[in-house]
Amino acid sequence: MLGSFSYKNPTTLYFGEDSLNYLSSELSKYGKNIQLVYGGGSIKKNGIYDKVVAILKANNKEIFEDAGVMPNPTVKKLNEGIRIARENNIDFILAVGGGSCCDYAKAVSVSVYCDDDPWEKYYIRFEDVDCKVVPVGCVLTMAGTGSEMNGGAVITNSESKLKIGHVFGDNVMPKFAILNPEFTFTLPKKQMVAGIYDIFNHICEQYFSGEDDNTSDYISEALMKSIIHSSKIAVLNPEDYEARSNIMWTATWALNTLIAKGKSTDWMVHMIGQSVGAHTNATHGMTLSAVSLPYYRYIMPYGLHKFKRFAIEVWGINDANKTDEQIAQEGLSAMELWMRELGLTMNISELGVNNDMLEGIVDGTIIMDGGYKVLERNEILEILKLSL
Ligand code: NZQ
Ligand code: ZN
Repeated sequence: MLGSFSYKNPTTLYFGEDSLNYLSSELSKYGKNIQLVYGGGSIKKNGIYDKVVAILKANNKEIFEDAGVMPNPTVKKLNEGIRIARENNIDFILAVGGGSCCDYAKAVSVSVYCDDDPWEKYYIRFEDVDCKVVPVGCVLTMAGTGSEMNGGAVITNSESKLKIGHVFGDNVMPKFAILNPEFTFTLPKKQMVAGIYDIFNHICEQYFSGEDDNTSDYISEALMKSIIHSSKIAVLNPEDYEARSNIMWTATWALNTLIAKGKSTDWMVHMIGQSVGAHTNATHGMTLSAVSLPYYRYIMPYGLHKFKRFAIEVWGINDANKTDEQIAQEGLSAMELWMRELGLTMNISELGVNNDMLEGIVDGTIIMDGGYKVLERNEILEILKLSL
C-alpha cells in the first residue's frame, strides 16, 4: 500500500551540455554575497571554476571562497564554513563539486543562524531546523549521492569516529542544481565506479523493503537496469556522453524521495558503510560495495520473495527447475559479477579495516528497522567479519 502522503520536490534541475547557462538567471534571485564552496581543486584543473567565477562576476556578485571541502566533510570544516558565512553576511551558498560539497553546503546553510552546536543538534539529537536557512544551489561534478535534489547532509566527526547523515526537509534542499554530464568526464575511474555503486545501492536500500505491490519497486527496477547498462559502457569509455548522462540522471532519481514513496526502506548497508567510513575515511561508494554482499546474503532468507523478484526482473534470471532460493542466490551472484567487472572494492580489509576495529565499527552503526531483518549487534559484527 502506498499509503497517504503529499509530494513535492522543490529543486529546479537544469540538465545537459548547456545547463550552466541557467546559472545567471538563478543567481539573480539572490543577494550579492555568495559563498563559493568547492573541494580539493578538481574544478580548477578542469576549468569549471573559471566558468562559474566568470558567471558570478558578470552578475556583480561578491565571491567569498570556501575551498578545501574534503570527501566525507568533517565537523571541523563545517565550523570553518559557518565562520565564513557569519563573517561575510552570506546571502547564498553555491556548491560546485560532488556530494561532499553539496552536503557540506546544506550543513552550513542550517548552521549559520543556529544558536546551538550544529553537530549536537542535527547529528546527535536529530532535531529539526528552527532558524533561518541560507539558500543553497549546486553545480554538480560527480554523479552518485543524489545530494543535488535531496535534503541529505552527511558529516563526519573525526574525533568521536561517527559519520552521520541528517535528511533535512524541503526548505534545505538545493534551490537549483545544474547537471552537465560533461562535467563528470574528468572523474578518476575509481570515483566514477564508486558513484555508480552508490546510485545502485540507494535504489536497493529502498527496494528491499515491504511485501506489497508498489509502483516504487517497478520504477526502481527500471532505474537499476539503466544504471547497470550505462555503467558497462562508461567503464570502457568514460567520455560516452549518452552513458554518463544516463548515470547522472539515474543518480538524481535514485535518491530524490520519489522511489521512497510507500516504502519502509532498509538503509542498513549505508549505516554499516558509514561507520566503516568514519573509521577509515574511505570513499563512500567503496564502503558500500565492501559490505553489500555479506549483508544481502545474510538477509536474503528474510526477504526471499523480493530477492527472487530482483533476480528475475533486474538480472534476467529465471528457471522453472530451480527453487526460489536458488534463483535469489543467482541474482546476487550476477550482482557480484557486475560489481567485480566494475572494479569495486569487495572487502573492508582493502579499506584499512582489521579485526581490532570491528567492535568500534559496530558501536558506530545506527540500526534501522525498515528492512527485512532488524539486525542485532552480534549480527552486524558477523556481517563485518564476513566482509573482511
Ligand atoms: O575535492 P575535489 O578536488 O573536487 O575532488 C573530488 C573528490 O576527491 C573528486 N571529484 C568530484 N568531481 C570531480 C572530481 N575529480 C575530477 N573531476 C570531477 N568532475 O571526487 C572525489 C569525491 O568527491 P565527493 O564529493 O566526496 O564524492 P561523492 O559525490 O560520492 O560524495 C560523497 C559524500 O556524500 C555523502 C557521503 O557519505 C560522502 O560524505 N552522501 C550523501 C548523501 C545524500 N546527500 O543524500 C547520500 C549518500 O549515501 C552519501 O552518504
Ligand atoms: Zn550513498
